[in-house]
Amino acid sequence: MTGARPDAPVVTGTPGATSVPARPTPLLPSFDLGAPAPTVAAPTAPAIRLQGVAKRFGAGPSVLEDVSLDVRPGEFVCLVGASGCGKSTLLNIIAGLDRASAGTVETPAEGSALMFQESALMPWLTASRNIELALRLHGVSRAARRERARELLDVVGLADAVDKRPHELSGGMRQRVALARALAQKRPVLLMDEPFAALDAITRDILHDELDRVWRATGRTIVFVTHNVGEAVRLGQRVVLLSSRPGRVAHEWEVGARRGDGTEAAALVTEITTRLRKEIRRNAA
Ligand SMILES: Nc1ncnc2c1ncn2[C@@H]1O[C@H](COP(=O)(O)OP(=O)(O)OP(=O)(O)O)[C@@H](O)[C@H]1O
Ligand SMILES: [Mg+2]
Repeated sequence: MTGARPDAPVVTGTPGATSVPARPTPLLPSFDLGAPAPTVAAPTAPAIRLQGVAKRFGAGPSVLEDVSLDVRPGEFVCLVGASGCGKSTLLNIIAGLDRASAGTVETPAEGSALMFQESALMPWLTASRNIELALRLHGVSRAARRERARELLDVVGLADAVDKRPHELSGGMRQRVALARALAQKRPVLLMDEPFAALDAITRDILHDELDRVWRATGRTIVFVTHNVGEAVRLGQRVVLLSSRPGRVAHEWEVGARRGDGTEAAALVTEITTRLRKEIRRNAA
């Protein structure tokens, strides 16, 4: 991690970057469970555009070099790569928590919501109050906050946990509250840094389904960092592999229809894993 504050509630457009005009994002519409995956009319301005992004911390080695990546509005992109290759650094740069040493970063003016491996909920606040706090920071009136928080907890399947404090919730439930809080921020871009890494496989499966449903319903643009290639192919429309030392886009895979096909998805997981292993070996050499 870089110096990102895990409790940072909101992040607005990247300092010093040009912002692309925000598309009219359907933020939190009715949560239609059967909604199809967002379709993107091409050509359209990307939601996130990185061009020649480089990052070096002080006099240290180059962490990222010449990273160029466009993320379409409403696209779900998963970022994989060896530990230390710069995934979190890149996410922090997109979020505006850190500055690129070179290159340009374009993000929607409304900024991004972030979600980390740890839920970083306020332990003294109930699930509802944690979300209400995010809503308050967005200027939602006191009267509307409680009801909105309830709706969001309902979206992540936690309607019964409104008045529970984080220590009364399981790890998976806490991450769901964190997801509801991220959605409360009404940012068109959701940046997720290994949000489910600490969870058991069954809870993770459930949250995959929920995140997929929420993504389809809200049209958010999502960049999701993971070490789990299966998770990347399960969730992402596109998987981007970063190389190490320095971090560059080494390869990209459009998951497309393979997402829903067990055999094809498994073959793709094998292909990406083989490539990722090569990167990890190259990194260790
Ligand atoms: N604030 C910082 N100051 C100095 N070096 C940093 C800072 N943040 C990250 N680095 C270095 O940048 C490199 C990339 O770190 P980063 O956290 O982005 O990797 P990562 O791909 O997210 O790794 P992991 O998969 O283990 O989370 C590492 O070598 C790390 O030591
Ligand atoms: Mg990281």
